[in-house]
Amino acid sequence: MKLAIRGGEPVRKRPFPDWPIWNDTERRGLNRVLESGKWGSLQGQEVRQFEREFAKYQGAEFGIAVTSGSAALEVSLRAVGIEAYDEVLIPAYTFVATATAVLVNAAIPVFVDIDLETYNMSTTSLEQALTPSTRAIMPVHFAGRPANMDEIEQFARDHNLYIIEDAAQGWGAQWRGQGVGTFGDFGCFSFQSSKNISSGEGGIILTNDEELARMASSYMNCGRVEGAIWYAHYHLGSNYRMTEFQAAVLSGQLSRYDQQLEHRQQNMALLDNALQALEGVQPLTGDARITRHAGHIYIFRYNAEAFDMLSKEGFVSALQAEGIPCSGGYSLPLYKQPIFRNQSYGPFTKILREKARYENVNLPNTEKACFEEAIWLPQRVLLGSVEDMRDIVRAIEKIYDNRHELI
Ligand SMILES: Cc1ncc(COP(=O)(O)O)c(C=O)c1O
Repeated sequence: MKLAIRGGEPVRKRPFPDWPIWNDTERRGLNRVLESGKWGSLQGQEVRQFEREFAKYQGAEFGIAVTSGSAALEVSLRAVGIEAYDEVLIPAYTFVATATAVLVNAAIPVFVDIDLETYNMSTTSLEQALTPSTRAIMPVHFAGRPANMDEIEQFARDHNLYIIEDAAQGWGAQWRGQGVGTFGDFGCFSFQSSKNISSGEGGIILTNDEELARMASSYMNCGRVEGAIWYAHYHLGSNYRMTEFQAAVLSGQLSRYDQQLEHRQQNMALLDNALQALEGVQPLTGDARITRHAGHIYIFRYNAEAFDMLSKEGFVSALQAEGIPCSGGYSLPLYKQPIFRNQSYGPFTKILREKARYENVNLPNTEKACFEEAIWLPQRVLLGSVEDMRDIVRAIEKIYDNRHELI
């Protein structure tokens, strides 16, 4: 059968499920807020209620809603007391916000490689990245897959480090039955448009520590302190307050989340089994300690050698042409992004120029992920039917069988 990219019939012509998914629950919530006239969280109760709901859902004591996942990370670092020139360990394979949150606190991101079996921070390379200036570690639960919290917690204890979990993609994910984002000092989540729970933009910070919750709330709300007079400001905060509209939508999204999570997990298991049997592609390795994967991205590993050296880009284009929504994910390791190459750190450039330097960083697994092997399927695909998953498998098989057409 001729490949679609060469003019043949695509495996699929029907679209995969659309995102976002919403119904009358969100519509009613938005109207409720509109008609109440209480549009901000200083007047209404929707944000406070969603903070409680989401904290309970994930298994944390306190939730502090903010404007984005990026803001959640920035506020959390500030709230634990990160200062200029402190070093923070982060994986090099993540969204840029994990690193910029460190920079905007005048601190230094130190990149650590990932494991290619998990696409999460490699705990074996943590030791090498440690210096007397290391103050915190930010594991990312990448794609919704929990990072190895046994080893990260141990490492943080041994070296007296704060843990700020970047759980931007981790709603509902669990490591040994415990919700991600509840292990560290703080856990940070995103509700941006592509996310499995979305209000267009938004984020939340979770913690089990009452004092840290107070500090994060203060930084979120212009440095105010609860109970103090309104125009008294105690810390270098800003306005990171979520609106009542966002919280009303998020409560609706959360109410159907478990059902979607179950659906995505079933399809991920199906894809894992099917891809295991194919030539030239490989699912990530399972781990019994992962009791729930949030299924934000389905990642599989592409091996160009099995495809007669067809490039990753060539494979992605061929798979897209067959009607499968997919991408090659991050095209650069973070430390190779222009911001780091050009040291374009805005107001922090002068003070960080000497220390935040990355021209000699080379993390082989991150490079391999970006340049050679990572293929991503977005979360909405995982809400498809069993037959939809079979189409993905058929499309990969078809490209493999006809790879000679592409060389
Ligand atoms: C791993 C990771 N960290 C941080 C963020 C930042 O979240 P937001 O886009 O809500 O600012 C995102 C989402 O884009 C993310 O995927």
